[in-house]
Amino acid sequence: GPGTESCVLVTRVLCSEPGARKGRVQQDARGRWLKAAILLLLLSAAAGGGLVAWNRLRSQDGIPEGGIPADGVTEGGIPADGVTEVLAHRSDHLQDKFVQVPCSEDYESHQRFAGCTPRKCGRGVTDAVITREEAERIRRIAERGLSLGGSDGGASILDLHSGALSLGKHFVNLYRYFGDKIQDIFTEDDFALYRDVRQRIQQRIAQVFGISSSAMYLTKPTFFSRMNSTGAKTTHDEYWHPHVDKVTYGSFDYTSLLYLSDYSKDFGGGRFVFMDADSNKTVEPRAGRVSFFTSGSENLHRVERVRWGTRFAITISFTCDPQHRIADPQLSWGDRSPAGGEEPGRKLPL
Ligand SMILES: *[C@@H]1O[C@H](CO)[C@@H](O)[C@H](O)[C@H]1NC(C)=O
Ligand SMILES: *[C@@H]1O[C@H](CO)[C@@H](O)[C@H](O)[C@H]1NC(C)=O
Repeated sequence: GPGTESCVLVTRVLCSEPGARKGRVQQDARGRWLKAAILLLLLSAAAGGGLVAWNRLRSQDGIPEGGIPADGVTEGGIPADGVTEVLAHRSDHLQDKFVQVPCSEDYESHQRFAGCTPRKCGRGVTDAVITREEAERIRRIAERGLSLGGSDGGASILDLHSGALSLGKHFVNLYRYFGDKIQDIFTEDDFALYRDVRQRIQQRIAQVFGISSSAMYLTKPTFFSRMNSTGAKTTHDEYWHPHVDKVTYGSFDYTSLLYLSDYSKDFGGGRFVFMDADSNKTVEPRAGRVSFFTSGSENLHRVERVRWGTRFAITISFTCDPQHRIADPQLSWGDRSPAGGEEPGRKLPL
């Protein structure tokens, strides 16, 4: 590249003999000119290298226009020595991206359901199922719901199915807590959009994995998440540990994530990372982007710590086992919610 060329040039100039000794004055003038030229070359090479390094840093961490926040957390980032590939850039508009991986043995220790239990495993990313406008409407539902509660730590969740809402260091049942007042917060349209989005994601997963959409069911936990850079106060806030969804929740067969905000625009850090033996592969969140994958150990993953801003997403989980099926949430549940708003598991499928 140009860097190498300028190095060669610098060496040649430095090593070149002054040649035949002509007039002392002329030589001194040439020497000064050479020194200035070398200095200029070195400076521009250093500036170029610095710019490249800075750009790399920016693209890795999604540093906002205003610069790095004062208490930048580095533990959530991927160490520079590791191998990292980007599966989906925030700026990409992906139609259908799919990477097949061999299925793990996790499915062997569970009952198999014909036409649903994964035979083909892998990961898909698409920006073509949910529009950015729909993602924004869904994000506003999440904002409204989560504004009623919120964890003391950096990770809050709202599960419209069980009613679980983070509040301080615990969870409350949204439906029991707010009763009929829930109808002042959410509308029938909100629930209809939520159901529609869930259905379209389910259909896409079925299509990509070659299974029947009617053979897979929504399961729990399925929830909204809101994450920021505030430190964890309880283990519920520690979303960044590597995990396998099917190990944590045996009923899971397919996990999907719908992102509701943009990496490096709305927040920094917070990328999704598939952790393979040979490399880490990142999915950069983008509003309206759906990331989906089979839930077994073939898809060990983690989420980086959020460094600045606020990250919104929904986890929508599917099972092949009709016994673990859950119903779409209803506005009319009020204080008659079917589930008890129990605490979600320790390792949330994020
Ligand atoms: C993947 O990232 C983790 C940290 O999150 C690191 O320990 C590991 O070495 C990385 N793997 C590779 C293959 O680079
Ligand atoms: C993160 O969210 C919590 C509410 O869950 C809030 O108390 C806290 O101030 C937020 N932190 C930042 C840095 O915005």
